[in-house]
Amino acid sequence: MPPKEPRFIPSTPAQSLAFLQKVSIFSHVAPDALERIASIVSERVHPKRSIIFHEGDEGDTLYIIRSGRVKISKITEDGREKTLAIMQPGAFFGEMAIFDEMPRSATAEVLDEPVVALTISKRDFERVVLETPRIALQLLRDLTRRIRQVNQQVEDLAFKDVHERVASTLCSLSRVEGRLLGGNRILINLKMTHQDLANMVGSSRETVTRALNRLQDQDIISIAHQQITIHKPEVLAAWA
Ligand code: CMP
Repeated sequence: MPPKEPRFIPSTPAQSLAFLQKVSIFSHVAPDALERIASIVSERVHPKRSIIFHEGDEGDTLYIIRSGRVKISKITEDGREKTLAIMQPGAFFGEMAIFDEMPRSATAEVLDEPVVALTISKRDFERVVLETPRIALQLLRDLTRRIRQVNQQVEDLAFKDVHERVASTLCSLSRVEGRLLGGNRILINLKMTHQDLANMVGSSRETVTRALNRLQDQDIISIAHQQITIHKPEVLAAWA
């Protein structure tokens, strides 16, 4: 029998409000406006490893992750995948289809724990933005940061070899998912197969495995139970 998902307990309005205060796009919103927003969002739970939507779907909903993590990726017809981003609690996604009224630009998939997401419809979100222009300003800041990240990915794909890209992906994962262990070591708190990493790096599993073996041979990293520990962060950064 598959393991049971934990029972979902919906948030109270006060809990939704407390969470929304910590979401970057709502960070400068006055308490009364935030209360109105809390009253119009819905809460949805998505089981682990489920698809929230596929690239190409129609969509008019914005998602804000309350807990769990979501992988944003593009998948080719022959099944190859490029991971574009891993979204953490507090992050939003699904804004592109809302703003340009085109189909979903990528697939959103839950990673290995269920995702609780607050959702808001296109109509409600547009109304909220018009009422509170500060949200638009913060949204622009967040989207600008995403463009910088995409530019970095383009630069890496154009100019770095796979070994450098593996090192640079591990460095950025350690910044977001890293847990400091003793002796300056960092555990990347995310279970990943070599294929998962290859999808992030934009290369084949075999090539990424060779790069990981090289890093392990030099004691820069170690891998146990699909989790990577970085033993020499400065050396890895120099590789990246
Ligand atoms: P939408 O196109 O509605 O559905 C897919 C979502 O993935 C998209 O909105 C964005 O929220 C998100 N997304 C698409 N591309 C990227 C990217 N390169 N980096 C981060 N998020 C992205």
